Amino acid sequence: MYQMKTLYLIGFMGSGKSTVGRLLGKVLDLPFMDMDDEIVGVNGKSINQIFKDHGEEYFRNLETGLLESIPSQGGVIATGGGVVLREKNRKLMKETGIIIYLEATETEILTRLKGDESRPLLAGKKEVEIRKRLSQRLPLYTETADIQIKTDGGTPEQIVSVLIDRL
Ligand code: S3P
Repeated sequence: MYQMKTLYLIGFMGSGKSTVGRLLGKVLDLPFMDMDDEIVGVNGKSINQIFKDHGEEYFRNLETGLLESIPSQGGVIATGGGVVLREKNRKLMKETGIIIYLEATETEILTRLKGDESRPLLAGKKEVEIRKRLSQRLPLYTETADIQIKTDGGTPEQIVSVLIDRL
């Protein structure tokens, strides 16, 4: 069963990390943090604006800096979909918590992100960008995860319940 460790939710954009994470925190009575929201709050700019003004590398540095500052005990963290790209991030999460991969199919991701304008990396042709990045990242998500949960068709409540059973 769950022992005071940080629970990191990883997965592609649109896989439900924030929604599931918030609910999981509520059910387990643990503090919840959404890394993107935290970065937006601290920097006073949207993710789009940060990418526009400073580029992806700068954003990735903010992400790593935030991960380094997260206390290692207790809490639910919804990460950004690209957090697994850096080995340092994968190591930091491994050392301090349990990593939960919320797996969603390409079709489901496309449906959920249709019309979304908030993700700078999907500003091009969405289908192409999603397919390309998903295939690059899939091995990283699966290798990094301690627990892998299929989310397609599940409500946040169902996903949280399955997840808690597996902790
Ligand atoms: C990114 C995912 C986004 C956000 C940024 C980059 C990515 O977070 O961190 O746009 O590289 O996959 P979500 O997964 O919450 O959309």
